[in-house]
Amino acid sequence: MMETATLQEIDTTVKAWLQEARTLVYQCMQNDLTVEQKTGRLDLVTNVDKQVEQLLRGKIKTLMPTAKIIGEENDHGQIKSMVGAVWFIDPIDGTMNFIKQRDDFAIMLALYIDNQPILGWIMDVTKNHIYHGGPQLGVWRDDEKLPVPADITLNDGLIELSASRLVANEMHFEEIAKMSSGVRIIGSAGISFIKVLEGKAVGYASKMKPWDFAAAKVLLETNKILVTTIDGKEIDMLLSSTVLSATASAHMQIVQLQQP
Ligand code: IPD
Ligand code: CA
Ligand code: CA
Repeated sequence: MMETATLQEIDTTVKAWLQEARTLVYQCMQNDLTVEQKTGRLDLVTNVDKQVEQLLRGKIKTLMPTAKIIGEENDHGQIKSMVGAVWFIDPIDGTMNFIKQRDDFAIMLALYIDNQPILGWIMDVTKNHIYHGGPQLGVWRDDEKLPVPADITLNDGLIELSASRLVANEMHFEEIAKMSSGVRIIGSAGISFIKVLEGKAVGYASKMKPWDFAAAKVLLETNKILVTTIDGKEIDMLLSSTVLSATASAHMQIVQLQQP
């Protein structure tokens, strides 16, 4: 296990990287964005996503030269195991929000060692808050320690869902929505996870890639929120999954809906 002092140093260092990345984002926003399609018109990447990832990759390589890096905007297919130190980078989470709204987007980083969650960071870029920490440090919003959210049921809470799964009514999303006190759809996994972390929503479910959920998994599990596949299984950190993060009560209700 890594020394707490070392973890604290890494945490402080990464928070400074994130502030540097935020400055870069705001500098880039003064000029026109270069927007390209990846797999289609709803899957976009900008010059800012690429520049932020390049900045963070460089920082990680200097800090931990032998660590593996799984970043959204680079070739990550060659990483086949979670042995050793593995960093996850989502340079801009909520790229569509970034392009269309210039709001509600995040920068996310996570560190796992031998598949164990160690540290996670979610920066809400426009609000300039960093959610950070891990099992040994606790969970913080900037300098304020966050309490464990209350165990509220699905019926008594708001649920964050992905729009695409809800309109397709996959994985019983319509029933989940109807059982809840209301659905909220933000368009950024990171910002949705923050709502759960702050106890403002009882859960968030969406189909996600590892960089979408890696940081949140570290922070949420530290504060007793369950993070599994939507049918209640352990998540494979190298695969995309329909991920459910929820309070213990809401988690049980949603997993039960998936039973045949
Ligand atoms: C996406 C957003 C979106 C979520 C998708 C993610 P990106 O991330 O977080 O809200 O529904 O699953 O892929 O592509 O903007 O980094
Ligand atoms: Ca992204
Ligand atoms: Ca993302």
